Amino acid sequence: ANLFFENSTRTRTTFEIAEKRLSADVLNFSSSSSSTKKGETLIDTVNNILAMKVDMVVMRHPDPGAAVFLSRHVEASIVNAGDGTHEHPTQALLDAFSIREKLGKVKGVKVLIVGDILHSRVALSNIHCLKKLGADVMLCGPTTLMPRFVESLDVRVEHDLDKALAWCDVANMLRIQLERQGGDGIASLPSLREYAMLFGLDLDRYERATKAAGRGGKRIVIMHPGPINRGVEITSEVADHAESIILDQVENGVAVRMAVLYLLAGRLGKTS
Ligand code: CP
Repeated sequence: ANLFFENSTRTRTTFEIAEKRLSADVLNFSSSSSSTKKGETLIDTVNNILAMKVDMVVMRHPDPGAAVFLSRHVEASIVNAGDGTHEHPTQALLDAFSIREKLGKVKGVKVLIVGDILHSRVALSNIHCLKKLGADVMLCGPTTLMPRFVESLDVRVEHDLDKALAWCDVANMLRIQLERQGGDGIASLPSLREYAMLFGLDLDRYERATKAAGRGGKRIVIMHPGPINRGVEITSEVADHAESIILDQVENGVAVRMAVLYLLAGRLGKTS
C-alpha cells in the first residue's frame, strides 16, 4: 500500500511503477480523499489497510518520525517515503546511484548540497548516505536555513556559493520549502529575489565556477531532487543543461525502489 499523507509526484509514481514491475498488487491511498479527514488516527488507518492483508506500506507523512512510529505499532514492513523535514532514504539511495552512474564512483567525489538545508529531508538522508559511501560533502546556504545541529553532521559548511561551486564535482540544488516556513512563506529570507541572487544557480555562475583555477575545465554535475522552483534555486538553462542529471535521478528512482522493495519482501514471514 502506498500511503501518501503529503503531495508527491516522483516518489509516489516511481514506487508504484517499481511495485508493478515486481508483480506486486498495489493499493494507492491518498489522505486527502480518506477517512483521516474525519479524524481517524494514523494507526487505525494503517491497521484497517493491513486487515486487507497488505504486506508492505510505503508511507509519506508530514511529521518527522512517522515511519518509525508506525513500524513500532503495526505488523508490516514500512518504507519511509519522506517524513516531514527528517529523512527521505530512497531519495538518498537514488541520488548516490545517479552520481555513481555519471562519475563511475561515489568515494572521494565532492558533493555540494545547496539551499534550504534546514527543512530538507533530502539533505539529511544524502549526508548520511554519501558519507557512508566515502564522498566529501559540503553544505551551502544562508545561515537562517542551516540546522542548529549542523556541526554534529561532520560536513563542510560554506556560505559563499561561488567558492562552494569552485570546490565541487556535483551540485545538488535543493528547493526552498516555502510551505514549511509558515507565516508569509519566507520567514527565513528577506526575499526570494535576494535568495536567487546569492544562492541560485544560473548559467553565468555555473560557467564561471567550471573555469575556476585548479579545476582544469572540469564540469559540475547538476542535480535536483524536484520539484524545481525554476528561477529561484536554479534557472531553466542550468536545470536543462547537458550536465544536468535531474531526469536520470527520477529514472533511477524506479530501479532503486525496486531493489528496496525486493530486499524487504525477502524478509516477509520471517520473525526477525
Ligand atoms: N523528490 C521527491 O520526493 O519528489 P516528490 O515530492 O514529487 O515525490
